[in-house]
Amino acid sequence: MMLRRWIATGMVAVATLGVLNAVPAAADRPYDPAAQTLRTLGLRHGLYIGTAVDTAALNDPADPRYREILRAEFSSATAENVMKWEALEPTRGSYDWGPADQFVAAAQRNGQRIRGHVLVWHNQLPGWLTTGVEDGSIGTTELREILRRHVTTVVKRYRGKIWQWDVVNEAVSDPWDTPSTLHYKGFWARHLGPGYIADAFRWARAADPTALLFYNDYNIEAFGSGDPADDKTQFVYDMAKGLLAQGVPIDGVGSQGHLGTQYGNFDTLQVADALRRFARLGLATAFTEVDVRSRMTDGVQAGDPEEINPRLQASAANFHVLLQACLAEPRCLSFTVWGFTDRHSWVPGWFDDPPEGLATIYDEDYQPKRAYQVMKADLIYAGPPYVLPRVAPKPRR
Ligand code: XIL
Repeated sequence: MMLRRWIATGMVAVATLGVLNAVPAAADRPYDPAAQTLRTLGLRHGLYIGTAVDTAALNDPADPRYREILRAEFSSATAENVMKWEALEPTRGSYDWGPADQFVAAAQRNGQRIRGHVLVWHNQLPGWLTTGVEDGSIGTTELREILRRHVTTVVKRYRGKIWQWDVVNEAVSDPWDTPSTLHYKGFWARHLGPGYIADAFRWARAADPTALLFYNDYNIEAFGSGDPADDKTQFVYDMAKGLLAQGVPIDGVGSQGHLGTQYGNFDTLQVADALRRFARLGLATAFTEVDVRSRMTDGVQAGDPEEINPRLQASAANFHVLLQACLAEPRCLSFTVWGFTDRHSWVPGWFDDPPEGLATIYDEDYQPKRAYQVMKADLIYAGPPYVLPRVAPKPRR
């Protein structure tokens, strides 16, 4: 076997010299894993490695590296903003499909599976909708009908092209919200009650029988106390179980994975345990928006390596924990980062008091960071019996 491989790679001379136990030098190895991309390495496990796509960067002629890395390294793509309601229907009744269509076409050209993001969320809603509800000109019955029409219209438009849809996003509060017990939060729960969640899944299923339908949220990487009053993961787990018991067509739960190096976060076994518990409900899982930000202290901003290095290493360690846990769970179908370069990351614009950054796997000059190498090593060195091929569910009816 070994000999045949050597012959095939032109190493007969070494073999005939009798050095049968010699290990070929790295440069002569027929397969150099470090030269592979995340995309290729992920697919060894059937795992799709994705990224959020910033369409401004995608279209910037002065930024070719963005497109090269996007195409080479990722087998899945999520629109960072252009499939959100405010982008799709800025004026009531008139959909602007241009940017979303362009995103879908680009992903298809790149041979990438698409995560549709997002159908029902309380943020980035069009002004006409929120204002209309606030001033009373849109009542409850009409609001529900508007939501039904939106979900149906968008899902139908991209029917057959979307692998996973984030049907409902961030419907659950955080333990530090008021009241401090977990509850259904935001615009939709306030105006329609929590029943909108089951409705949205049913409407999405009716519009596309083939997409996998996901509930998506943050701070659900691991279980906490197990009390749904203060453990968000438990609350979401109970919710998903309840939806399944009602026959709602939910196929998966997406864990966003927005972490920060200033927090304690989790270890691989805790995260793998959470993924396994969702899997035992018969659900797929995915990491959908992973980034690991850090405080941009004065020292970091001044370039002090004593402040920068521990942060880059802690960031890498957190990418590692989430990816390893995903690899360990055959129903974890994809691992998506929320932007791949610090050049185009939502973090500095969003977390600015105090300033945060350094959240992605490539720096601002497209140099791969420690986090990228750690992800790559995780994909290379994972294998049976603990890492098995992915098991994708059939879309639930
Ligand atoms: C963020 C985008 O990255 C930003 O560009 C935008 O200004 C705000 O939204 N959870 C989600 C994503 O589900 O849609 C959010 O994306 C990040 C948090």
